[in-house]
Amino acid sequence: MDLYEYQGRDVFEKHGLPVLGGGVAATPEEARAIAERLGTSVVVKAQVKVGGRGKAGGVKLAATPAEAYDRATDILGMDIKGHTVHNVMLAETADIAEEYYFSYLLDRANRTFLCIASVAGGMEIEQVAHEAPEKVVKRPIDATVGVTPEIAREIVAQAQFPAEIADQVEQIAVDLWKTFVAEDATLVEVNPLAKTTGGKVLCLDAKVTLDENAGFRHPDHEALEDKSAVDPLEQAAKAKDLNYVKLDGEVGIIGNGAGLVMSTLDVVAYAGADKNVKPANFLDIGGGASAEVMANGLEIVLSDPAVRSVFVNVFGGITACDAVANGIISALELLKQRGEAVTKPLVVRLDGNNAEEGRRILDEANHPLIQRVDTMDGAAQRAADLAAVGA
Ligand SMILES: Nc1ncnc2c1ncn2[C@@H]1O[C@H](COP(=O)(O)OP(=O)(O)OP(=O)(O)O)[C@@H](O)[C@H]1O
Ligand SMILES: [Mg+2]
Repeated sequence: MDLYEYQGRDVFEKHGLPVLGGGVAATPEEARAIAERLGTSVVVKAQVKVGGRGKAGGVKLAATPAEAYDRATDILGMDIKGHTVHNVMLAETADIAEEYYFSYLLDRANRTFLCIASVAGGMEIEQVAHEAPEKVVKRPIDATVGVTPEIAREIVAQAQFPAEIADQVEQIAVDLWKTFVAEDATLVEVNPLAKTTGGKVLCLDAKVTLDENAGFRHPDHEALEDKSAVDPLEQAAKAKDLNYVKLDGEVGIIGNGAGLVMSTLDVVAYAGADKNVKPANFLDIGGGASAEVMANGLEIVLSDPAVRSVFVNVFGGITACDAVANGIISALELLKQRGEAVTKPLVVRLDGNNAEEGRRILDEANHPLIQRVDTMDGAAQRAADLAAVGA
């Protein structure tokens, strides 16, 4: 889960990192009140989960509370790379002399944690890495050792931070690592880490990504989730404990097992390529695949107005195909009882444990919406064809 800057700033503050006073506002009036409370000139910053806000006009200085009101009026409602600004953060201004870059992240490709540090900050680090790679220090961090004061000193020396602020940056390097570990983050990024004209080093931006797999250790993290930004179908699916991801195609997908569902997405994308038809979602209903879970899954998939056909792809392993076949038929019955009019065709492919019996049950039910196809490629093709016709 990515955090907004104001949330990241609060996380930094909680762990003792040097941040400036600030607050978050949804209206110009709130922005003015925060500026009055801070009693200094302020920066008004668009809160969107996308980089390059400054360049897009989403970061503006305001000398007085009245100006903060005006800048908030300008920025609230702005569109930055497809993200609407619903909130602005106000922060005290810093007198910036130099801007640096510092981050820790999970480096999945190399199966390690990584520190990236550079004295060329403020701009995008990818660009610095491209134009002046010698200015970017990348150092793997051993999870069992972490960032000791010695390692912090080495990083600071290697990145050539100015001597007069080396102590401050070392302390920040150690504290930022502690934050990274304590919060179970996969990214903590400070860009810019700034030196003021007075020689103080401050975190002027905060980008934090939390590992949702560690959510059980952090009851406080749930409150950081932006419920309004979550797709309503995904939210409904989550409430039913379903593993659902909305995509932007027309063929609804239901399968059991994440690997099977992933490959189902691939075959449907391939089958639909020449018809401009794509998978509409990822949905893994897991091993059980009871009638109720199937009904819940179908309900979510069918309530996506973009869906024109559904491909149910089940491999009987722990759950036998006859149970799944009965599950599908009972699910359609359940939906009828819930008052959901099911009108979209379902292509069902059953294979594996008790496949013969499962297919027989489907044939016997002779449901007008169910089409049985026994190969994965054939079923994907049929589902794509049906979606194309339904266009
Ligand atoms: N508190 C502050 N006081 C003075 N200047 C600031 C302050 N915060 C940010 N700035 C200036 O604004 C620039 C952009 O700010 P920031 O890094 O937060 O946004 P951004 O980098 O454009 O957005 P993103 O990080 O999303 O790409 C900074 O590089 C810095 O020069
Ligand atoms: Mg930044």
